Amino acid sequence: MTPAEQKKAAAAKAVEFVEDGMKLGIGTGSTAEEFVRVLAERVKGGLNVIGVPTSERTAKLATELGVKLTNLDDTPHLDLTIDGADEFDPALRLIKGGGGALLREKIVATSSDRMIVITDASKKVAMLGAFPLPIEVIPFGAVATVRRIAEIASAYDCHGKIARRVDSYGEPFLTDSSNFIFDCHFGRIPDADALARELNLIPGVVESGLFIGIATMALVGTASGVDMIEPK
Ligand code: A5P
Repeated sequence: MTPAEQKKAAAAKAVEFVEDGMKLGIGTGSTAEEFVRVLAERVKGGLNVIGVPTSERTAKLATELGVKLTNLDDTPHLDLTIDGADEFDPALRLIKGGGGALLREKIVATSSDRMIVITDASKKVAMLGAFPLPIEVIPFGAVATVRRIAEIASAYDCHGKIARRVDSYGEPFLTDSSNFIFDCHFGRIPDADALARELNLIPGVVESGLFIGIATMALVGTASGVDMIEPK
């Protein structure tokens, strides 16, 4: 299967875990969009679910396809979140935020009993870090905050360029919460647990794209089918 087919296959498998009456977190990205499409087919067939989207982009697609939506204020506890990832390791630690929605994705995932990650085979790594780690930062004092990020990262043996994300016009990319994203090109993150903890202590850091202890299962499209992986 091609990567695109692998994403579709993982999304199709994920919908098998959705039960009637469930409250769902719905992720962001091309794989999550495949999930919205298969979910919408099931909804047309009579499945009754309600979803909390993790981005405006996902909300738009779900609404267009007829998936009923709510928000965490009205529905603060969810049964299951299905979302993509930029990388995952054997312990199902994730890097997310390639699409810029990491903050809402983390709030939604941690409001859910379970999180199933859906990806193609390319996202599986032995150690996180080849994908640049996105960190959402408050615009006020961002340069000072990034200096602190670099110091902390270096203490955990993470080195490399830290670049503010820009949009297609070359302007600073703003998240759905109007913050900046800095992409950290570390190459490798030897102690992701500690780095995630320490980054969250820096004033000005809203969240990092490290999702630790959140995913409960990964469904990974491969050349020959869909692997079901649980954290080691
Ligand atoms: C969105 O912010 C990310 O966390 C996505 O989950 C991630 O970028 C995966 O995207 P694809 O499914 O498009 O690979």
